[in-house]
Amino acid sequence: MRSHYCGQLNETQVDSQVELCGWVHRRRDHGGVIFIDLRDREGIVQLVFDPDAPESFQTAEQVRSEYVLRVSGRVRRRPAGTVNADLATGRIEVLGIRLAILARSEPLPFQIDEEVEASEEVRLRYRYLDLRRPDMFRRMKLRVDVTRMLRNYLDAQGFLDIETPFLTRATPEGARDYLVPSRTHPGSFFALPQSPQLFKQLLMMSGMDRYYQIVRCFRDEDLRADRQPEFTQVDIEASFIDEEQIMALMEAMIRELFAKVLEEALPAPFPRISHKEALARYGIDRPDLRIPLELVEVSDLMQDVEFKVFAGPARDVAGRVAALRVPSGGELTRGQIDDYTKFVGIYGARGLAYIKVNQIDKGRDGLQSPILKFLPDDTINTLLKRTGAQDGDLIFFGADKARIVNEALGALRVKLGHDLGLVERGWRPVWVTDFPMFEWDEKSAGWSSLHHPFTAPAIDDIAQLEANPGDALSRAYDMVLNGIEIGGGSIRNHRSDVQAGIFRLLGIGDNEAAEKFGFLLEALKYGCPPHGGIAFGLDRLVMLMSGSASIRDVIAFPKTQSAACPLTAAPAAVDAKQLRELGIRLAQPPATGA
Ligand code: AMO
Ligand code: AMP
Repeated sequence: MRSHYCGQLNETQVDSQVELCGWVHRRRDHGGVIFIDLRDREGIVQLVFDPDAPESFQTAEQVRSEYVLRVSGRVRRRPAGTVNADLATGRIEVLGIRLAILARSEPLPFQIDEEVEASEEVRLRYRYLDLRRPDMFRRMKLRVDVTRMLRNYLDAQGFLDIETPFLTRATPEGARDYLVPSRTHPGSFFALPQSPQLFKQLLMMSGMDRYYQIVRCFRDEDLRADRQPEFTQVDIEASFIDEEQIMALMEAMIRELFAKVLEEALPAPFPRISHKEALARYGIDRPDLRIPLELVEVSDLMQDVEFKVFAGPARDVAGRVAALRVPSGGELTRGQIDDYTKFVGIYGARGLAYIKVNQIDKGRDGLQSPILKFLPDDTINTLLKRTGAQDGDLIFFGADKARIVNEALGALRVKLGHDLGLVERGWRPVWVTDFPMFEWDEKSAGWSSLHHPFTAPAIDDIAQLEANPGDALSRAYDMVLNGIEIGGGSIRNHRSDVQAGIFRLLGIGDNEAAEKFGFLLEALKYGCPPHGGIAFGLDRLVMLMSGSASIRDVIAFPKTQSAACPLTAAPAAVDAKQLRELGIRLAQPPATGA
């Protein structure tokens, strides 16, 4: 039907005959002449119809936005003065000779060509129209380029693309499962995989040696801009390998990806930071290194000060007092400081003390703060030195349980970075390593895994682990890019006694372990190679690479914040017969309009 894509035409085709198909992006009637911008996935070209060809001219008069056309015409240079520098095809136009309308269109619920922000609900309801927007095509195309490049890299490194089941048992990755009822086993359920974690480990026990899969994962969790209930992992596992080798292979892959697809050079090697240092300096385990602000520890300075708000947490082993210096922050108004105080309140902070540094060489008199009167001179002097304060700066303080201070000042650091235009341009990857093995969960009053229960401890001595679970480090690593966790993995437990001990520490009794993970514990007994791996969040990676604000922008048919699809109206009620076959009776009728 066609000889070229609209967007691919240029001056080399001048005087030749072309056949084009596409959608009417815009139509302008200039009295004697009709201009139509014809759009296909590769771009837009201007068609011209004049009354010298009466048949096509009459058809062109009927054309409206988003009609689907087939055109034959002759490419010609645009007359001087009408060249459109904003359009890739802007030096030429196509003089229409024959024109057929292949399909008509009703007026659209929103305009394709305008950047007017249709609501997300409407965009998703008519996603097939939304995807007609050139920006959306570019993102989908980028995603294809990314997966092709990653596949090429992994294929070349001897990784085998092997599929694993979707109808399976629960894989614990910290979210709720999506369950699928079994008809043939009434009352029993499959769980959709939160990740292929257990299967990829079993493949290592099968001797496959190097595995990868670009695979859908399912997690029923609270959604955010960088989370979807179904998302895609680039899932990787290898045998006879340690963390250094995996990290080297993986950062080389990401470097090659950015070099080839975006022509951007990432550092070699990627910097590394321990989990502990990340929290100390950035308050968060996925630091955005583009922001040149850092938390500074001042707990030791505040233990004996009169100000109880500081002295309390400074003396508490679980507490923290930290400072955040804001260069030129002295310009912040009272109102802005109040807004930031409200902002940290979201994270549980009960206040946001500050000191304005007007003139440092005047000592106490050069400072301005409601808390100055509580702080002795030597504390103030050390504080100024340690934070590197300069005239015109402002220093914020957080004092509370360490978790609250870290979350509040960590988020404030990022917000200030954006508000004050301090975010550096470019790409700042970092490996986060030396994660704690376990974290204490207040709700269940027990230990839970920071990564997942299959992660190996740094020291695989169960007695030592049991003696002090809170201090144990794991062999896990995360890859963080511009403040977003794009990948995470670990070396696994390949000894069944260590794995069983970790289940026990997590409060998973022997019976429960046998019932849920018996197949894994058993497999570990039949010759399991040391192994480890990682999984990247493909959607997050493409979101970053395309400069999108949400992973929904890089997924063709994503779900809304409430995990629904407005296009197909899923999830939906099912009929009584289906439920009967599954042996399911509803405790309450389904909510309408799910
Ligand atoms: P983890 O749970 O860290 O590890 O997931 C790996 C990566 O997947 C991405 N990701 C998500 N992306 C979009 N929406 C979500 N809901 C979502 N959840 C996670 C993140 C994350 O870094 N089996 C292990 C990997 C391993 O140990 O090899 C796992 O799934 O970018
Ligand atoms: P107050 O003693 O409540 O009047 O607080 C004096 C200053 O300390 C105010 O600027 C508060 O915002 C700040 N402040 C109060 N609690 C905290 C806290 N937990 N961390 C940091 N600053 C605080």
